[in-house]
Amino acid sequence: MRVPIVAANWKMNKVQAEARAYCRRLRELVPEGFPVELVVFPPFTALGVVREVLGGSQIKWGAQNAHPESKGAFTGEVSLPMLLEYGISYLIVGHSERRNIFGEPDDFIAKKLRSALDSGVCSILCVGEKLEERRAGKAREVVERQLAALAGVSAEELERVVIAYEPVWAIGTGVPARPEDAQEMAASIRRWLADRFGDTAEKVRIQYGGSVKPDNAGEYLKLPDIDGALVGGASLDPDTFFAIAREVAR
Ligand code: 13P
Repeated sequence: MRVPIVAANWKMNKVQAEARAYCRRLRELVPEGFPVELVVFPPFTALGVVREVLGGSQIKWGAQNAHPESKGAFTGEVSLPMLLEYGISYLIVGHSERRNIFGEPDDFIAKKLRSALDSGVCSILCVGEKLEERRAGKAREVVERQLAALAGVSAEELERVVIAYEPVWAIGTGVPARPEDAQEMAASIRRWLADRFGDTAEKVRIQYGGSVKPDNAGEYLKLPDIDGALVGGASLDPDTFFAIAREVAR
């Protein structure tokens, strides 16, 4: 049985005081033994505060990005050993904003995934096609090309990877994917994994991301191959984020 996972990607939002208030509220909301894994992804500058407030709770936290090298002349970058000092459990890899705004290529994303796995943290590997790619009937081809970041990952390591299917056209647009389209892609991702990793594919959690809200989260979570959500805009308010998690828990 796959434990559902709901994650809050704050992106470039929240100064420390806001992060503190958010985490305090989230801790209040989440009852002991809540059956969904919750992960918060603050910006780097709020990781210390998040750790201080969420430490000792069942809520985990992670980093939105990291450089694959552990140190060196990479001005402006942050490495995994630096992030491990903040107690991160997860790293987001291959988010479409990193791919499309910052031009991160597939091989660079694969290196980040490798570093994360070598550091012992779990990863959320994001995949998803652009609108023109979907319209051209290339959605699966694009997603499979992005999944190739998993080449060289062992089946044992794969258990520490969550796949987030986030169609680019659904991110921040208020236009989520139709549940049947999300399920079709998630099933195709799982088949792709099964061809390469055998039975371990059944253990991998696949999230849907893109305009997830409390009123649509339940639709995705009843789909057989979707095990959680990666939430952007609607995760910025702790009550709304928890309302999504509650839908998933139902
Ligand atoms: P929205 O929930 O704002 O559409 O963002 C999704 C996302 O990119 C999460 O990583």
